[in-house]
Amino acid sequence: MPTNFDMEIDRRHTGSVKWEFVMDPENPSAKKRIDACFGKNRILPMWVADMDFPSPEPVVKALQERARHGIFGYTQPDQAYLKAVTGWMKRRHAWQPEESWIVPTQGVVPALHLLVRTLTRPGDKVLIQQPVYYPFFSAIEKNGCQIISNALVLTDGRYHMDYHDLETKTADPDVKLAILCSPHNPVGRVWTREELRHFGHICQRNHVQVIADEIHGDLVYPGVTFCPFSMADNTFQETSVVCTAPSKTFNLAGLQTSNIFIPDKKIRQKFKENLLANGLFGVNPFGTTACRVAYDEGEPWLEDLLRYLTNNLQTLINYFERNVPEITVIQPQGTYLVWFDCRSLGLDKHELRNLFLNQARVFLDDGGLFGPEGDGFQRINIACPRPLLMEALERIIAAVKGIPTASG
Ligand SMILES: Cc1ncc(COP(=O)(O)O)c(C=O)c1O
Repeated sequence: MPTNFDMEIDRRHTGSVKWEFVMDPENPSAKKRIDACFGKNRILPMWVADMDFPSPEPVVKALQERARHGIFGYTQPDQAYLKAVTGWMKRRHAWQPEESWIVPTQGVVPALHLLVRTLTRPGDKVLIQQPVYYPFFSAIEKNGCQIISNALVLTDGRYHMDYHDLETKTADPDVKLAILCSPHNPVGRVWTREELRHFGHICQRNHVQVIADEIHGDLVYPGVTFCPFSMADNTFQETSVVCTAPSKTFNLAGLQTSNIFIPDKKIRQKFKENLLANGLFGVNPFGTTACRVAYDEGEPWLEDLLRYLTNNLQTLINYFERNVPEITVIQPQGTYLVWFDCRSLGLDKHELRNLFLNQARVFLDDGGLFGPEGDGFQRINIACPRPLLMEALERIIAAVKGIPTASG
C-alpha cells in the first residue's frame, strides 16, 4: 500500500529529539525536554533532520519479524547485508564499491569523529566548507584539530566553491584532511562531477585526504544527478573515505546504522582499531535489518517520497515568493533541508529567534549554528505532512508581517 505522506503521526512518548526536546542554540549539545510541541498552541519542530513519515512498509514488517524472533544478541553484518549496501550504490548511483571496503558504524557523526582521530594528529588542521553541518566542528575540535573554513560563496542565488581560497588554504602543510559535505547541508547543493573533480584535484595536489559525507546522496530533486565523490575522477576512489547511511533516505536515524567505505586497507585497519579502542564493536540487529530491507525493497517508497518532497519544496517557494519577498529561498538541488536568507528583514540573531520561535512558534535551525557565514539565514526541514508545512508557513508569514497569530 502506498504511504500516505499527508497523514500526521503523533510522535509523543517516543523520545523523539525533534518533537520532545528543544535545543539551546548557544549550547547545541544541551537539549531540554519540553511538552510544547503538542496540543493547540504547539511549537512546530522543523529543525533536526529526521522526517515525520513512517519508514517503508517492508522495513517495518521486517523489523516486526526480527522482533518476533526474540533473541537480540551480538550481531555482525552478514553477506546479505553487504550485498544490499553495495547493490544500492550500484543501482542508484552507478558506483561499484567492494564489499570488503564497508565498515558499519553507529552513525556517520561518530564515524566522522573517529575518522578525524584516525587521519590526523592533534594540532593538525581540517578543512570544511562553511556554512556546514555543525557536528563537523566538534568532530574536528574535540579531537584536538583546528577548523579551516573554505567558505562557500553565494552568487546569483546559488552557492559555489571558492577554488582560489581552497588552493591557498590547502597549500598550508598543516591542513591534512578535508571533510566534504556532498550533497551539502545546509545549502542544498548537489555538487557536479566537475566541481567535485576540481575540489578533489586541489586536495590531491596538496596532499589533503578527503572524507566525503554522502549521507544525503539519495535525496535529490528531479533533473539533478548525484555524483559520488569516488566516481568524479578515477584517481579519487583509492584515497578517499566515503560516509553513507540509509538513515536520511528512509528515516531510520534512531536505528544508528551507517556504512563507511574505506578502500585503502591501511586506513581501514587503523579505523577498525580505533573503533575497538573506543569499545565499539558489532552492529545493531534492528539497524542492519532495516538497512538491508530498505536498500533491497525501499526504492518505490523513495520515489514516492521524492515526489512528495518536490511538492513540499515548491509549496514553500511559492508561499515565500508570494507573501514574504523579503525572504529569499536558496533553492536546494537535494536534501529536505531548505536554507533561506532573512538578512533583508534587518534582524539580529536574537530577534530572528524571537520571530520564528516565539511569534511564529516554529522551531528552525538558526543559520549561525552552521558557522558565522550562516548569520541571517535559517534552515527549515520540509520532510513533514503538507498540512503541517502549510501551518508553519502561514505562521511564519503572519509573524513576518506582524499579524498576531492564533497562538498569540
Ligand atoms: C551531513 C550530515 N552528516 C551526518 C548526519 C547525521 O548522521 P548520523 O545520524 O548517521 O550520525 C547528518 C544529519 O543531519 C547530516 O546532515
